[in-house]
Amino acid sequence: MSDKKPSPTDILSVGDVAARTGVAVSALHFYERQGLIASVRTAGGQRRYARHVLRRVSVIQVAKRMGIPLAEVAEVFEDLPADRMPGKTDWRRISERWRGKLEARRKEIERMESELVECIGCGCVSLRSCRVLNPDDALGSSGSGPRLLPEFPSE
Ligand code: FES
Repeated sequence: MSDKKPSPTDILSVGDVAARTGVAVSALHFYERQGLIASVRTAGGQRRYARHVLRRVSVIQVAKRMGIPLAEVAEVFEDLPADRMPGKTDWRRISERWRGKLEARRKEIERMESELVECIGCGCVSLRSCRVLNPDDALGSSGSGPRLLPEFPSE
């Protein structure tokens, strides 16, 4: 931990953070309620933020743009030190993790698109045979014929 005392310019009001990040004050309050950013209170009850909160808010905005849920952001923030700006190494780790998420999402969208292409011009929308409605062909792997007959009690 640093012995350096914070200068007044290291401590920001919620208005300062909003002005520097372009994020609405209400959103900052929401992020704080979600535990993504933290503040201290002045004697008068006003919020004050450490300068490194600006970087956290930026990371939240990147996540928002990428469609990464706030719960995911909270998970990566758990691994960040609370008392300093996330650095290049932190960001590399976070962005690699999110790149993996985007890649998985891209593959899922491609798979869904492929299934949907088979539906074009069909129109059956059959619970039994449409790959979109029954993507895993729930009973197909166990052969043909009925398999959902009720069990009868043994005598
Ligand atoms: S609508 Fe017929 S296969 Fe999907």
